[in-house]
Amino acid sequence: MSNLQIFLDIATEAALVAGTALQDYLGKLEDAITEKGRPGDLVTAADKAAEQLILSVLQRHFPQHAFLAEESGKLGDLNQDEFLWAIDPLDGTTNFTHQYPFFAVSIGLFIQGKPQVGVIYDPLHQELFRAATGLGATRNRRSIHVSSTTELSKSLLVTGFAYDRRETPDNNYAEFAHLTHLTQGVRRSGSAALDLAYVACGRVDGYWERGLAPWDVTAGVILVEEAGGKVTAYDGNIVQIESGRVLATNGHIHDRLSNTLIDVPPLSAWR
Ligand code: IPD
Ligand code: CA
Ligand code: CA
Repeated sequence: MSNLQIFLDIATEAALVAGTALQDYLGKLEDAITEKGRPGDLVTAADKAAEQLILSVLQRHFPQHAFLAEESGKLGDLNQDEFLWAIDPLDGTTNFTHQYPFFAVSIGLFIQGKPQVGVIYDPLHQELFRAATGLGATRNRRSIHVSSTTELSKSLLVTGFAYDRRETPDNNYAEFAHLTHLTQGVRRSGSAALDLAYVACGRVDGYWERGLAPWDVTAGVILVEEAGGKVTAYDGNIVQIESGRVLATNGHIHDRLSNTLIDVPPLSAWR
């Protein structure tokens, strides 16, 4: 068995354990919800418990690897460590606290600075998305592929809004409004990991977002790439995960969406 397959299988084991724990916590948090800093940026006992479960599985199997886990802080550096796991134990915490059924565990592995293994698990819908470089992308062990939509006007997109949106004019509102006007619709799901998984399996044609952390997107980036899609910076250049900006599409609408994002008119001008 190849190393990538081993990494994928162990990450899957960790994601399934964590996903089961999240289900156990759902609807039972009561006062175990706090704000991390910015208004609306929540953390719960479920995030912390799921993260500990993931870390214990991965650290047992890969004691030499580095880890970048959302609730534990920075334990590794994606530019320096050969193997670095980026872990979001609960992507979609706001949804989770409202019992809105859209959240996931996301576990990605950077090898030499590049996302190469990804597992995203949605425990409520029992959907397990997996990918690794050269091994393809799957949903519940069946091969998946991006959509074949070629026109932006016929596309369905998804995006999100970072927690700093109240403090910055670069808050994605103009992009959201403009692209809502140009497409069949733009969804805001509340889980960046599932947004990328949905691009990979063709349920949406494209996704963009700013203000992202590596644990939000590492697994999703390799999923989209292995499903035949394209992931870049907004301007079409090579994606820099640390920049927090990601544009991921089925490939066909990529240039059009990229051009639109770098030339969005101010809100007052669109029609
Ligand atoms: C958030 C979700 C959301 C995205 C935010 C993320 P969290 O992650 O992925 O969809 O819009 O930027 O921070 O806080 O639920 O893990
Ligand atoms: Ca997240
Ligand atoms: Ca999270």
